[in-house]
Amino acid sequence: QANITKQLWTKKDFISTLPKRTPFSHKGSFGKGLLIAGSENMPGACALSAKAALTSGIGLLSLYVPKSIKPIIASHVPEAMYVSGEDIDWNAYDGMAIGPGIGRTGPAEAQLRDILAKTDKPLLIDADGLYHLKHYLPMLKNKQSPVILTPHPGEMAGLTGLSIKEIENSRFEIAHQFAKEYNVYLVLKGKYTIVASPEGEQAVNPTGNPALAKGGTGDVLSGMILAFMLQHKNLFPAICNAVYLHGAVSDQLILKGHSQMDVLASDIINGIPMVLHDFC
Ligand code: APR
Ligand code: MG
Repeated sequence: QANITKQLWTKKDFISTLPKRTPFSHKGSFGKGLLIAGSENMPGACALSAKAALTSGIGLLSLYVPKSIKPIIASHVPEAMYVSGEDIDWNAYDGMAIGPGIGRTGPAEAQLRDILAKTDKPLLIDADGLYHLKHYLPMLKNKQSPVILTPHPGEMAGLTGLSIKEIENSRFEIAHQFAKEYNVYLVLKGKYTIVASPEGEQAVNPTGNPALAKGGTGDVLSGMILAFMLQHKNLFPAICNAVYLHGAVSDQLILKGHSQMDVLASDIINGIPMVLHDFC
């Protein structure tokens, strides 16, 4: 379909839509987020995502992680708080993200179902959260609160039943159709990441390079989107800005002493201040 409107998201869009902090703002002004991430074998995914959210300006961050990995995560992310137990009020937060490193077994699937049924706040689903989501796709259609999905092409294949090749050949059309059909904001990742809204808006991100092709960078992006979705008034620019910044940091690192080989996901987090300093 040639008639899908696509916008190239630029530095100008980033600067004009990034919210300004007023002198009288306080941590409550910048969102209270919940991140459900990490598992015994993937504690780092949670630490990366949490640090990325904090470095991207979130006001307060609570983590829901398995008990066994809490100490290691806390030692990496002293700014976060923790929640545990089974009777959590998902709506005590302004928004949440589920998925990075949660794994395919264990309680995460039931948790995702419970959240989908109960939450009325913005919800981001990534990584193995998307794996579990494929059983509950119909629940998205009638959801009143926004849902954001961040699949890479392989995860998109899992959600749609299409092959990765089919997805790569028609990225725009598939993202556009899926976002409308399932009433979600869809971030289809990869070179020229696409952000599609349930209303049919579509933006293409020009930043980023193969330095990002390394485990953990997706977890960083999820944390950044969580932080931005709680700070912006509108979700579409919030998501586009997080994607733009994530790629822009990787581009700046290459200009400032790194190569595409050596950039780690944690370098992306540590590079956020340099780019924000330039953009803000
Ligand atoms: N150019 C621009 N951006 C790129 C490029 C590229 N060549 N390669 C990767 N990226 C970006 C993507 O757009 C995305 O934002 O890097 C990020 C990679 O995210 P994921 O694919 O989700 O990678 P990550 O999550 O870190 O991988 C670890 O988690 O999602 C699972 O299946 C995934 O097992 C894998 C694990
Ligand atoms: Mg990922």
